[in-house]
Amino acid sequence: MSIKKVKILEFAPTADEIWQIKRHKKDGYTDYNAQNGLVSLLDTNHEAKQRPQIRAVYAGGKATNVARVIDRLLPDNIQAEFELVTFLPPPKALMRNLNFGNSGIVPSTPTGIYTQCLQIENLTKIKPHFEVVDELAETGNMQTTRRCIEIVLEDAGTSLNFSPRMVWSQESAKAVLARLASFINEADMIIIAGAPPLWESSDNLLTPHNFYAKILDLTRDDCQVSIDVRGYYLHDCLIANRPPRFIFMNKDEFFEAIDTWKELDGKALNCTLIVHNKDGCWVWDKKMPDSDALFNDSIFFPAPKIEKVYSTIGAGDAMHAGFLREWIYSKCEEDQIRCSVVYSQAVSAISVSNDLATYGIDARAVDDMADSMKWR
Ligand SMILES: Nc1ncnc2c1ncn2[C@@H]1O[C@H](COP(=O)(O)OP(=O)(O)OP(=O)(O)O)[C@@H](O)[C@H]1O
Ligand SMILES: [Mg+2]
Repeated sequence: MSIKKVKILEFAPTADEIWQIKRHKKDGYTDYNAQNGLVSLLDTNHEAKQRPQIRAVYAGGKATNVARVIDRLLPDNIQAEFELVTFLPPPKALMRNLNFGNSGIVPSTPTGIYTQCLQIENLTKIKPHFEVVDELAETGNMQTTRRCIEIVLEDAGTSLNFSPRMVWSQESAKAVLARLASFINEADMIIIAGAPPLWESSDNLLTPHNFYAKILDLTRDDCQVSIDVRGYYLHDCLIANRPPRFIFMNKDEFFEAIDTWKELDGKALNCTLIVHNKDGCWVWDKKMPDSDALFNDSIFFPAPKIEKVYSTIGAGDAMHAGFLREWIYSKCEEDQIRCSVVYSQAVSAISVSNDLATYGIDARAVDDMADSMKWR
């Protein structure tokens, strides 16, 4: 089947900011102890004021990261239609009357609008698609947009990351599913990445753990779904009759899901599982791992050698994006899975070996790296 419509789903609209602070006795942090991971900061009682330098601001969220990397790798003539679908809270009071002309921006909260602007700025070929859902209103404990701050300590080789949790209600989850049901039918491929928001379920019918399984239920039978998430959120998808077409997880997440592998016990499924870490990828195609001999039926693809690792931030997202880019446009007649895995490894290798991480991914560098891996 040729893939004509791809929808990437973002449930955590995020503005990511990277701030750098310097070791300074008034303006900044004072010390970093690598042994116990403690950072000392001077407080305001000591008349200190942190004066971070803002290094980067961009649209975040796992699905958005995947979209951004796919966007960089797409050929000029893309033929297929790619959309990044983001679910946003409604605007309050006068914000409802804002008019953004034909910019594509829709009224939301200030953070919701800010995130939309960042997405539009970051995407060239993928179309941002914004869905405002009234039940996502940020009242009470609800947190349906966020800003994540990464504080980089100059010369310390470490950083502090502040990522507020996304908190929904069961009603908002239901409303998002209902909204998805109105257009998910068009999609030939759905991409999901990262954990869903948290909410308390009153009746266990709709929980963060079965949310992705409910989304799968809404898709057309021939729609290919690709998911990169920890095992907790996959269990119900794998037990259901229609598993995702692709699953990505790192090796720690794979071990964490051991109970699911035991339950499935080597079952044949129309699903390819790709497990990765810095050493390479283990791939199970159409058959789930055998829990007695976990790696027995997998094919191993060693990671390409990298001279210097600069940043592993988003390496897994880059891998997910690379795989799907190649899967959709592959010229490999046979063994499309192998070509897509090798291409994905080239993408993550380029991502970790430059100081801009996923921002330094360049389609030509990826092709050269993939060629050196004799991928076709
Ligand atoms: N230290 C490293 N050295 C070489 N390659 C690396 C390193 N870290 C990551 N990679 C490459 O990136 C790929 C994905 O990395 P990893 O398995 O760490 O992702 P992850 O844990 O899912 O990351 P995230 O979800 O934060 O993006 C690896 O399979 C490998 O190809
Ligand atoms: Mg990951």
